[in-house]
Amino acid sequence: MGAIAAIAGLLFGFDTGVISGAQEFLFPYFNLKDNNLQDAATRGLIVACVPIGALLGAMVSGFFAHRLGRRRTLLMTAIMFFNGAIVAALAPHLYSVGIGRLVMGLAIGISAMVAPMYLAEVSPPKIRGSMIFLFQLAITIGIFSAFAINLWFGRIFEPTVSWRYMFGAGVIPATIFFLGMLGLPKSPRWLMLKNRFEEAKAVMQRLLGRYDVDAEMNEMRESCSREQGNWITLFKKPLLPLLCVAFGLFVFQQLSGINAVMYYGPEIFSKAGFGADAKFLAQLCIGIINVLSTIFGVWIVDKSGRRPLLLVGFIGLIICLGGLSFCLKAEGLHPFVCLSLTLLYVVFFAISLGGVPYILMSELFPLKVRSVGMAIASCANWGFNMMVAFSFKPLTNLLGNNIGNVFVLYTICTVFGFLFAYRFVPETKGRHLEALEENLYEGKELSQLGQTVEVRE
Ligand code: BGC
Repeated sequence: MGAIAAIAGLLFGFDTGVISGAQEFLFPYFNLKDNNLQDAATRGLIVACVPIGALLGAMVSGFFAHRLGRRRTLLMTAIMFFNGAIVAALAPHLYSVGIGRLVMGLAIGISAMVAPMYLAEVSPPKIRGSMIFLFQLAITIGIFSAFAINLWFGRIFEPTVSWRYMFGAGVIPATIFFLGMLGLPKSPRWLMLKNRFEEAKAVMQRLLGRYDVDAEMNEMRESCSREQGNWITLFKKPLLPLLCVAFGLFVFQQLSGINAVMYYGPEIFSKAGFGADAKFLAQLCIGIINVLSTIFGVWIVDKSGRRPLLLVGFIGLIICLGGLSFCLKAEGLHPFVCLSLTLLYVVFFAISLGGVPYILMSELFPLKVRSVGMAIASCANWGFNMMVAFSFKPLTNLLGNNIGNVFVLYTICTVFGFLFAYRFVPETKGRHLEALEENLYEGKELSQLGQTVEVRE
């Protein structure tokens, strides 16, 4: 079940990563120039279609998950992933590419919220935490696959059609996702919410492999009744600071410029001095390092704690971004220093800002407002992702046609991110979620939420 539902993460990564290679062939095919501000805006818009769609998808994800159910919503997104890939691959005009990518984006926004929700609802509590970082791992594997396919297809197909095959490759995981999801059961928790107790019980018996599931059924009944909480409370004390932390972490995750590297990597490497083939190889290295470092993150996060990992990550990111800004300004002079700094930057991102915001967002919110809180935080993720994707080209043009200057902006934002994390992010490692909730309602400061509570055995 984990593998099938995580294919949604893989598609998330694939469809966001594929544009980095496809745009090399796509934009010249449609006669878009590099040094013209209007063309730069069009290019930015095509790249940003996925995050724009994902933002819209995140906004409506709760509605679909509730109305259609988690499983049927995921089946719907599989169909959208499939169609989005086909439309972009067969596009006769640039705006058809945009529509295809918008549909992919919608599917990503919906499934990036509903797939982890489905996983959480069918997983035993003991492995729920690692499932969250594993979803991030699936995203990075998807991004890596996209980079590998970009490199491969860029070599074996003509430049006029290679981008079509790159987009089209997305139909394979979409089909596997659809067929796999067909075989999975409905979420027992959703069935409970819909008062379909007998069906919920049958699914639980199947999931747990035993007849007596009364204890679990009672727990689910209790948590379902708690989930009827009012979302307006999220905008009042004491929940508002939590919302700000979850929201803020995603804002700084995106403003660290990670998707400038994911979407525009080959172009950045070309400016750094790499040749036509080498820049795609460099991007492939980014993909591999991203996957490997995320595996390390999955392993370390429960040992080191979230806060130290986040702070160390921020410091590393600031140093790498500062260095990168400096080297990129001297266009073409230090290709290997640029590559090393970018790789190190991805390592620091993957072990900290990559997974930790997802973990904290699911740990911090009390159960009754968790889904709304998560949906709002996801909107920050996609809203700022879209902003970075869209603004990269126009910003480069406006800042003296020099990518290094754009990285100076990411460096400054990341310094603010460090201060934000240092001041506000609490440690939640090994703490009972109920104890965090208790401290919150006792009026403890945000950064102290994890203090003076029992440590898990
Ligand atoms: C971010 C994505 C990013 C990915 C890179 C995720 O945590 O939300 O925007 O593309 O990490 O690995």
